[in-house]
Amino acid sequence: MNRHVPAPRTRWFDETSISLQDFIADVKKAEAQMSCPLADDVQKSVPIYNASKIHALIDDQSAIDRYMNEWTDVLLDGPGVVVFRGAFADTSIVDRTTDVLNDLIAEEKRVMGERGDHFGKVGQNARLWNAHEKLCVANPEAFIHYNAIDVVDLISRAWLGPLYQITTQVNVVYPGGKAQTAHRDYHMGFQTAEQLYQYPAHAHRLSAELTLQGAIAHCDMPIESGPTQLLPFSQRYLPGYLAILRPEFRDYFLEHHIQLPLKKGDALFFNPALFHAAGNNVSKDIVRFANLMQIGSGYGRSIEVVDRVRMSVGLYPTLHSMVKAGKLSPRQIDLVIAATAEGYPFPANLDIDSPLSGMAPPSQQDLLKLALHENWTSEKVASEFEAYVKRRLTH
Ligand SMILES: [Fe+2]
Repeated sequence: MNRHVPAPRTRWFDETSISLQDFIADVKKAEAQMSCPLADDVQKSVPIYNASKIHALIDDQSAIDRYMNEWTDVLLDGPGVVVFRGAFADTSIVDRTTDVLNDLIAEEKRVMGERGDHFGKVGQNARLWNAHEKLCVANPEAFIHYNAIDVVDLISRAWLGPLYQITTQVNVVYPGGKAQTAHRDYHMGFQTAEQLYQYPAHAHRLSAELTLQGAIAHCDMPIESGPTQLLPFSQRYLPGYLAILRPEFRDYFLEHHIQLPLKKGDALFFNPALFHAAGNNVSKDIVRFANLMQIGSGYGRSIEVVDRVRMSVGLYPTLHSMVKAGKLSPRQIDLVIAATAEGYPFPANLDIDSPLSGMAPPSQQDLLKLALHENWTSEKVASEFEAYVKRRLTH
């Protein structure tokens, strides 16, 4: 008798873990139990909140806590998606940002030519990767207004806690642009089945809990323009990263997904494990312009390289003068700093940057706050950030 036969790895998925019947039963059960009493509306199982109402409550901590609790429930166990109507009450902020982003796209096309991406064929869409840093560098004032938005911060903290890290990617889909294949998003949505089987089941849950996916509508998006196709409740299915690679799940998605029309300035946020796909743009003349947000936990690794030192140093002169001129409220200042600088103090080089008091060395956000508080010159900010970078080198 062979005494060394390993026990089955029951904490890992295998082929038998995935069942369309189980998935459908769970979606139906969750749908029947859905509850989001604070939503202003529910359409096709998606709770919709008027951002102006939330903005008016911003100083009422217990009211905000109730909203955030509901959103966490919705993202974790409920439909997995929320819509904020009028997230940008002033749509001129969106328009101004669109202009800057369009200029950046045109400049990249001029330099690099037309490029496809991992979902769209060349010519059907235009992408601007790392739009967050590029916008910050190209037009700091537009960046500041664009990032001083309450609900983006509140939903990020509802899902990820504080010290989240925003990345954005523009997706412009022209008339005739085809739908994406149904998928989940970063991290595990970017791995193959062979790779996914190597992670224990709890890591599949963890992946979804380290990212929040979102989209800001930069134009009105009626259904014919192809707003994101979504399958509410599908994020609940633990083997879903593996399941969505299978034809029977993709067929189910094609038959049962929903789409919601959006208006310019609306924002959509969802659990990255929600089955979704950009829709078909069957309109004659709507260029669908969305700025996609992938917001990473401070504990995780974001999808894109974002040079937050460059952003912090580059933004400071404009931020400082706007603060001095009283153009931003204390909360707006906090939102902009949260969107710009790295908030998490690690990884640190503890040989040379070991905290003498407290538990952690200062983060980039701490530096930027201190700079504003003490009225640092732009030169001092640049040299302090340079020193911060040096403290993180090991040789
Ligand atoms: Fe996606």
